[in-house]
Amino acid sequence: MAKEKLIIFDTTMRDGEQSPGASMTREEKIRIARQLERMRVDVIEAGFPAASDGDFEAVQAVARIVKDSTVCGLARANERDIRRCGEAVRVASSPRVHTFIATSPIHMEKKLRMEPSQVIEQAVRAVNWAREYTDNVEFSPEDAGRSDIDFLCRILERVIKAGATTINIPDTVGYTLPDAFGGLIRALRERVPNSDKVVWSVHCHNDLGLAVANSLSAVLNGARQVECTINGLGERAGNAALEEIVMAVRTRQDVFPCDTNIDTTQIVPASRLVAGITGFPVQPNKAIVGANAFAHEAGIHQDGVLKSRDTYEIMRAQDVGWIANRLVLGKHSGRNAFKSRLQEIGIVIESEEALNAAFKRFKDLADKKHEIFDEDLQALVTEENIEHAVNEHFRLVSLTAHSETGESPYARVVMTEDGTERQSEAQGSGPVDASFKAIENVVKSGTELLLYSVNAITAGTDAQGEVTVRLSKGGRIVNGQGADTDIVVASAKAYINALNKLHSRLERLNPQV
Ligand code: KIV
Ligand code: ZN
Repeated sequence: MAKEKLIIFDTTMRDGEQSPGASMTREEKIRIARQLERMRVDVIEAGFPAASDGDFEAVQAVARIVKDSTVCGLARANERDIRRCGEAVRVASSPRVHTFIATSPIHMEKKLRMEPSQVIEQAVRAVNWAREYTDNVEFSPEDAGRSDIDFLCRILERVIKAGATTINIPDTVGYTLPDAFGGLIRALRERVPNSDKVVWSVHCHNDLGLAVANSLSAVLNGARQVECTINGLGERAGNAALEEIVMAVRTRQDVFPCDTNIDTTQIVPASRLVAGITGFPVQPNKAIVGANAFAHEAGIHQDGVLKSRDTYEIMRAQDVGWIANRLVLGKHSGRNAFKSRLQEIGIVIESEEALNAAFKRFKDLADKKHEIFDEDLQALVTEENIEHAVNEHFRLVSLTAHSETGESPYARVVMTEDGTERQSEAQGSGPVDASFKAIENVVKSGTELLLYSVNAITAGTDAQGEVTVRLSKGGRIVNGQGADTDIVVASAKAYINALNKLHSRLERLNPQV
């Protein structure tokens, strides 16, 4: 018998973007959207258009570009949010408006300061506004995990009557346990009189590490859409990880009555892309996409795997997109080879000018590093995008760093600020510290450094180092990235990239605050 379909709704670019420092530019969102579409994600939640003009434009750009997935925007249950959202997504070939209002006693009383009956009326109005833009309307009772079930039944019956087509049950604060959450979905499907008119969806947060377990329990109790994010990105402890949901359902087809449409070989490339863009690295022991997820260290395991893979492996590494680093290009590769390899790994560079700039960078890199892998190309193009996307107020011109045993490390930086060349030097506890101090002597940003991390992009001592720098200033948090075979240069680029983001980005709203 044919299996039912489990709809995969990706919210990496909306809930994932609500993680401090994970905000994405329009170009970054377009790249992620293309990868999600390639992976055959059913619904892409591209952002919260009312948050800022930049968010509106990013959602609209994604809506214009994506053809095979539904493109969704989030809106609070008020007219302005919904109209902004409707305008942003209506250009999509398949648009959806997702509106929400809190239904738990604590949220209604303390956050909304509304009576339950007012919340119901507002929710119905919201669905009606959304339907002016599309028939595909999703409604979420925020904090459903802590809401009264009788109240949920009342409000959900009304919004379904008003025309909502998907009802999403969020465990907003990650409070529920798998049995209870599955039971809630079953009870709602049984008790809401018009429940058969809609797709039931779930959206679980990971505060107790249960987001995936809760979502799967809901699927076993009739949910047919799961909202999730690449690498489990999301507010606080994150959301259910897309890769874990998809592979659990695919691997345990003996248990699940449904399956997804996902091309699982695109999972690891998607994970890498999101980690690179957000600067949130994946822990090595993370299921499916962690570097060690398919590594067998213990001798007894290695022996077993060599004799028969399924002694210790329940999935195949290649099925989720793990391929060994492939040598793709070298010093003598031409522009066409460069362009076609970029296309093969799903990177589309629109303008000739951007392609020429990327090709020049590739040649510079090939001078320093003989073997260029797909991962190097990804990093190179990410940097190219960074420079095009962010209005570059600060730009690194050159960097000299010196370190010697017994001497104090020292750095000299030449950079431009709004086109004017400035330079400075500083000592520090190491060359990276000295470079950051030299940059600060010029910029005097007054930011706080929250995170500094370095990752080798490929193997070998000539690998590029990919650096993430997280800065905070006045309540705003941004991540900057830089890549180079010299990690001191990569660090300076990442620091300057973060400063540019702080300088250029307009204030945005968080839908849930
Ligand atoms: O966690 C949550 O409740 C949300 C809703 C907006 C769906 O993100
Ligand atoms: Zn959420």
